Amino acid sequence: MKPFKLIFTYALKYRAALALTASSMLLLVGAQLLIPWIVKTLVGAVTAPGANLDVMNLVRQLTITVLVVYLARAGLQFLRSYQAHLAGWGVVADVRKYIYEHLQRLSLRYYEDKQIGQLMSHVINDTDLFEQLIAHALPDVIVNLITFVAVTAVLFSLNWKLTLLSTIPIPLVLFSLQVYAKRVRPAFRSRQKELGDLNATLNDNLSGIREIKAFTREEQEARRIDHRIDSYYQSNLRALRLMATFQPFVDFTSSLGTLIVIYFGGQLALQGSLPIADLVAFFLYLEMFYAPVRNLSSAWEAIQSSLAGADRVAGLMAEDEEPHIVPGMLTPTTPVRGELSLRDVSFSYNPASPVLENINLEIPARSVVALVGPTGVGKSTLVSLIPRFHDVGSGSISLDGHDIREYTLESLRQQISIVLQDVFLFYGTIRENILFGRPTASNEDMIAAARTANAHEFIEAMPDGYDTMIGERGVKLSGGQKQRISIARAVLKDAPILILDEATSSVDTETELLIQQAPERLMKGRTTIIIAHRLSTVRSADKIVVLEERAIRETGTHSELLAREDGLYRRLYSVQRNLEPLIAASLN
Ligand SMILES: Nc1ncnc2c1ncn2[C@@H]1O[C@H](COP(=O)(O)OP(=O)(O)OP(=O)(O)O)[C@@H](O)[C@H]1O
Ligand SMILES: [Mg+2]
Repeated sequence: MKPFKLIFTYALKYRAALALTASSMLLLVGAQLLIPWIVKTLVGAVTAPGANLDVMNLVRQLTITVLVVYLARAGLQFLRSYQAHLAGWGVVADVRKYIYEHLQRLSLRYYEDKQIGQLMSHVINDTDLFEQLIAHALPDVIVNLITFVAVTAVLFSLNWKLTLLSTIPIPLVLFSLQVYAKRVRPAFRSRQKELGDLNATLNDNLSGIREIKAFTREEQEARRIDHRIDSYYQSNLRALRLMATFQPFVDFTSSLGTLIVIYFGGQLALQGSLPIADLVAFFLYLEMFYAPVRNLSSAWEAIQSSLAGADRVAGLMAEDEEPHIVPGMLTPTTPVRGELSLRDVSFSYNPASPVLENINLEIPARSVVALVGPTGVGKSTLVSLIPRFHDVGSGSISLDGHDIREYTLESLRQQISIVLQDVFLFYGTIRENILFGRPTASNEDMIAAARTANAHEFIEAMPDGYDTMIGERGVKLSGGQKQRISIARAVLKDAPILILDEATSSVDTETELLIQQAPERLMKGRTTIIIAHRLSTVRSADKIVVLEERAIRETGTHSELLAREDGLYRRLYSVQRNLEPLIAASLN
């Protein structure tokens, strides 16, 4: 969508407010034009030969008229300002809501190379510019254009020769405006980009404050932020310097008109072909003739930067969304059985380095499959293909005999409970975080889920129990506690397929025990895929799949795999078994 079209589409909803704005603006221009005319009438009357009491009556009438005009102007100014902002900020709010919804519908692939701060800048800063445009820049342009046309007409009616003479500098002014537009638009665009970069870096640093302290990187990070702030400052300066260079030039060119009127107007008055009252009015109107030209240049600047913002928003909106509900897609109303089958699945994040190649795997309904293998072989990647966080490069995955691409994304994801490797908890209470799995669940169900995840005891021990607030990233909880809350969240969802991607960093003994000892509680009646780093947790799985080098190296049960003389599983297992007594010994 073109930036202008985008703004227009959203502004349409506020047409009533915009119409009120426009009509009050028109009346304001009229009020403004009236005042010099009253002054002209006054000067004409008092300088006329033989002025008398009748003139005093006129003076009183003019005073009252001016009072009425000023009062009306006050009311109109309120109306214009309020209605313009009503529309301006209304559009900003609508666009923000839409961008956020759109962002949620973009695939995870979109987020891979994006900084959160940059995206936030689109939602906040770029949309702010729409208000600039609708409530300030566009009204300014319209008011000034109308004023200019109306004043020109009045000036012509006063003295056409003098008016023609005063238009001589106008082409010069228009020329400089054009040069300005070409030079300044890119400058404002790069200023906005710098602001986005600054936002992104700040966001990143504040999120990583713990690491900054741990590595005593305060000095260097402060320098890095300084650099960003400086480069925003520099690009701001660059844009404003262009404007500052240009503004005095416009002022100068427009003041040439005053010189002309003083010189030629004075002559005309001396010859008696221009009444004094008309000359006075001419000067007053002349200011209104050139002010629009000057104002247009700053309104132009605001329009440039708003359009640059709208351009970025339009670019974001043009990003393809994840495929959503398409007629004919499967939307099972009852839970699926949970039989998964991967055929010749290949996948890569970028074509140069394939992550998975020709994976074939059958996962019967309600079975427990463990995925093991060295770090970075693609275990998390493999499970992320099931809820379609990413789509297979080639091959297919089917659920209950249907390709997962035949289901709507929503219904597919409703069938899957997932505990991701990097646990993320939202800012809010523990209760809210667990209910995230199923907001309509009863309190009993929520507590049962927490019990299943071995989380109930430690939650109860907290000062506010389930109503304890946890930080943006769950900072007040230990890694294991966060993990158990995220398991409770997945359990509460109660979907036919459960995916557990065990965290390497916070492998928590109790969680490990939970997975070892309570499979019937956690996994009963579900198809379960566990990615485990401690092989002791996967012993009871129906099938263990060992991944290595983009492919499945071996599959079997624990005992089958151990029986293989040169098996990878046997090697990994014996390494861990040998290490554990060593660790235990070193702790004593
Ligand atoms: N979003 C991504 N973009 C590009 N490459 C990625 C992305 N996520 C993972 N990779 C790469 O894909 C490969 C597989 O990563 P994956 O996270 O699936 O490994 P893993 O087996 O889960 O490892 P771990 O045991 O450490 O969790 C790695 O080489 C990784 O660098
Ligand atoms: Mg992983």
